Amino acid sequence: MVDRKMDILRALKGAGKEPISGEELGEKLGISRTMVWKYIKTLEEDGYVIGSSPGSGYVLVSVPDKLYPSEISIGLDTDIIGKELHYFETVDSTNDMAKKMGFKAEEGTVVIAEMQESGRGRKGDRWASPKGGIWLSVILKPGILPVHAPRLTLMAGVAVARTIRQFGADASIKWPNDVVIDGKKVCGILTEMDAEVDHIGFVVIGIGINANVSVDELPEELREGSTSLSSINGENINRAAFVQALLRSLEAEYLRFKVEGFSKILEDWISLSDTIGRQVEVITPQKIIAGKATGITAEGALIVETAEGMQEVMAGRCIYK
Ligand code: BTN
Repeated sequence: MVDRKMDILRALKGAGKEPISGEELGEKLGISRTMVWKYIKTLEEDGYVIGSSPGSGYVLVSVPDKLYPSEISIGLDTDIIGKELHYFETVDSTNDMAKKMGFKAEEGTVVIAEMQESGRGRKGDRWASPKGGIWLSVILKPGILPVHAPRLTLMAGVAVARTIRQFGADASIKWPNDVVIDGKKVCGILTEMDAEVDHIGFVVIGIGINANVSVDELPEELREGSTSLSSINGENINRAAFVQALLRSLEAEYLRFKVEGFSKILEDWISLSDTIGRQVEVITPQKIIAGKATGITAEGALIVETAEGMQEVMAGRCIYK
C-alpha cells in the first residue's frame, strides 16, 4: 500500500469516532484535500467503510476482514518480525513465495495470503487453505547450524500455542509440531530452509491456522481430526489482531532463542505438550514405535519408553493409544 494511504488510515484509526476533516488530513500529510479524497476512495475500494459529512469530515466506520499489511502493521510494535510484509489475495504457497524472496529479504519478512492454491504440508501433503484461514511464512536468518533448524519449528509451535491461548482456547502441541485444541489439529507448521552443510542461508517457517474456517471446507479425510478457531469460539475471530499477536509472540520467542538459548523454549514446549506422558504409536517408514512418550530431545526427537528400552524418534506419524 502507498504510504500516504496508510498514513490516512492511521490518522482515521487514531481519531476513533471523532470526525477528521479533509483539510486537517491534508495538512498533516502535506497533500491537497482532493488527494485526501482520492485516497479515501481507494480505501473504500479495499473494503473500508468511511463515513463522511461535508461539515465535519471523515470517520472510519469499519475495516474489512482482510489481512492487509495496513491492518497488521498499524499498531504492530515488533522490531524484526513483520517489519516487512508481502500480502497476496491468492498465492500458490506462501512458503514457495518466501523461498523465492529468501536471500534478498530482510530477516523477519512475512508473506501472507488470504488463500493458497497449492498450500503444502509436511511430507509433501497438500494443505487445504481456504479463505478465512491464516496462511503465512516468516523468513529468518538465525545464524545457527542446519542441524539445529528443527528448534525453530518447536519455537514456532510454542509461539502459536501461546497466541491461541491468549485468544481464549486451550491449545497444546502434539508432537511433532501440530497445535491442537481438544486433540484436534488447528495449526500446522512447515519449516524449510536454504542451507549448506554448515551454514543456513535462510529459514522459512510456514504457519497454517484454521482461523475462520469451517471444518466442512477441509478435505473429508481430515475433518474428524481437525478444528478451527471460529468453531471453538462459536464466532469468527479478528484475524488481523490474531496475526499481530502471533508476530509479537514469534518475535519474543525468537529473541529468547537468540539471547538465552534453546533450553527455556524446550521447557515451554514440554509444558505445552499434549503428547508427553501419553501412550503412543509412532509410525515411521521403517517401523512402528510403541510405548510411553516421556520427553523430547533438543533436536525435537520424541523419547519413547518402549518394551525394548528408550528410543528416540525424529519423525513419524504419532497416534495416541
Ligand atoms: C503440516 O502440518 O503438514 C504443515 C502445514 C503447513 C501449512 C502452512 S500454510 C502457510 C505455509 N505455506 C504452505 O504452503 N505451507 C505452510
